[in-house]
Amino acid sequence: MPDPPRQMTVPEFTACKQAGRKITMLTAYDYGMARLVDSAGIEGILVGDSVAMVVQGHSNTLPVTVDEMIYHGKLVCRAVRRALVVVDMPFLSYQLGAIRAIENAGRVLKETGCQAVKLEQGPGQAEITAALVSAGIPVMAHCGLRPQSIQQMGTYRVQRDRDRLMADAKAAEQAGAFSILLECIPADLAAEITAAVAVPTIGIGAGAGCDGQILVTHDLLGLTEGRLPRHVKPYADLGRQIVAAVTQYRDDVRAGTFPGPEQSFS
Ligand code: KIV
Repeated sequence: MPDPPRQMTVPEFTACKQAGRKITMLTAYDYGMARLVDSAGIEGILVGDSVAMVVQGHSNTLPVTVDEMIYHGKLVCRAVRRALVVVDMPFLSYQLGAIRAIENAGRVLKETGCQAVKLEQGPGQAEITAALVSAGIPVMAHCGLRPQSIQQMGTYRVQRDRDRLMADAKAAEQAGAFSILLECIPADLAAEITAAVAVPTIGIGAGAGCDGQILVTHDLLGLTEGRLPRHVKPYADLGRQIVAAVTQYRDDVRAGTFPGPEQSFS
């Protein structure tokens, strides 16, 4: 009998870069989707704070809490057999100092069973990453467009400050991050950063020169409301298929053709 699949570890994830193996990651927020996404054999699953927008219906990621991230992290970890699971640290769960960050990230790691946390790291924030790493908590650093700063930025837009972005990525590596997510930065800059750091870069809206890619699964599947950002490629149109299926069900019930004899007991 073949061995059951073994879950990817943080060192194995990082080693993908040296091995020249492209890394694929997607988001998941619940058991059912995590099970399907994991069964496709991708390397990593992110329980993103995008849950605030995608699942909770907020207009940005700021409202989601540590307790809610833990709840979603538990649902995902219950399903995943192969992929590395990373859980996002929400707004204000790590910015208030190293102790608070370790307390919150430690809870996320202990209570969900995930392998790592992700936090948005801008200028001057590398000490928090270093403190978590020295406490034994693996960190994926999120550089480039940092959605938790939306109120400061005003709009979600491509980040072009090359020196600052290169410095943020190098500071994250220096602080011990095992991987760096690069969101919405020019493709040539992402490729330069990828060549300059030893840990894998995971891009979203950062071109093909990164070591891996991530997308929000709902965007990839065509489940997102409204216009998709330019960096998304929809691979399915499930939103339309769901509405069509539900409409057919409604019509069948109204017409008396569901349930039929095959769905009825004698
Ligand atoms: O929360 C999220 O979904 C993210 C994306 C960049 C993937 O961080």
